[in-house]
Amino acid sequence: MRRALAASAFIAPALAHELTSFGESGGQANFARLVAFTLAFLLVLLLTAFLGYRRTKSRGGGEVVWAIFPTVVVAVVGAMILMAALNFQPVGGARLKVEITGQRYWWAVRYPEREIVTAGELWVPVGERVELRATSRDVFYSLSIPGLGVKIDAVPGQTTRAWFTAKKAGIYGGRETEYVGPSTDKMRLRVFAIPQGDYQRLVTAIQNYAGPQPEGSAQRGEALFLARCAGCHTVRGTPARGATGPDLSLFRIRTTFGSGVWPNREDFLATWIANAPGMKPGVHMPAFPDLSPEDIQGLIAYLKTLGPTGVDLSRYGRLP
Ligand code: HEC
Repeated sequence: MRRALAASAFIAPALAHELTSFGESGGQANFARLVAFTLAFLLVLLLTAFLGYRRTKSRGGGEVVWAIFPTVVVAVVGAMILMAALNFQPVGGARLKVEITGQRYWWAVRYPEREIVTAGELWVPVGERVELRATSRDVFYSLSIPGLGVKIDAVPGQTTRAWFTAKKAGIYGGRETEYVGPSTDKMRLRVFAIPQGDYQRLVTAIQNYAGPQPEGSAQRGEALFLARCAGCHTVRGTPARGATGPDLSLFRIRTTFGSGVWPNREDFLATWIANAPGMKPGVHMPAFPDLSPEDIQGLIAYLKTLGPTGVDLSRYGRLP
């Protein structure tokens, strides 16, 4: 019995390294482990104290038990600290780099080595180490992606870095955690962790895509877009070169818009184009009350031609 207790006291710290926030599994699972570990540790402490008390009462020799008891406690806590220290993620060593730029109220996303530009959604391969580089165009931001153990500040004029590896395929949600204005809660980032093969296909599809080829009502939409929207939005392969709003070159493959908030669906888009500030107070996109429903349908038809075909990111999971 005593041996089993002693053994458990030394095995417990080995579990403890999973509990720190430095690991990459993060989130809910950690909380369950933390509770289980705390209960187990408490049980060991109480049992040791109880056995010590009984032994003192029956045979004397309590000094020995009371010497062992604090020694074990100190050893266990020491081991936990050591495990946590060893579990610090080393910096560097990432092949894939992604730059994110915070601005009112969205995240621009750029892959410097691949010249891929998007917004609000970030695509990474499962199991590969990624270097996230953050900066800001206006105020201080602080992005938290609990599922990946990422908490990163974005500061104007500086680049901050964080490293992560998504171990499982799926969508990891990120949120702005500092108050930056009335739409703070609508500034999100979704990280899609995509199986390696699919990821390579996605990158190839994006790199082979030359630009939109609108037909029918989308052509009307394109003319309208170049006249009314191109001052703020870029579309690769067209004269649209604006930089106030997100680059829309790959808009078709996005599952969400408005910085990971609304599903990329016609009904939400129609409301957005007519009155973006109504959906996201404080946004730097004006309302367009003069556009007719046909104008808006044309613009949506055009938006649906932007990006490579045959890509479906929604199958990697959904976030509420
Ligand atoms: C004055 C600049 C400006 C103009 C003009 C403008 N937009 Fe925007 N647009 C923005 C900004 C800024 C955002 C980012 C809003 C956010 O998510 O916080 C945005 C976001 C969007 C989005 C969502 C993109 C994403 O990545 O989430 C779409 C779609 C869009 N605009 C379409 C249009 C269309 C269509 C027009 C023309 C009718 C237009 N915009 C005109 C600034 C502008």
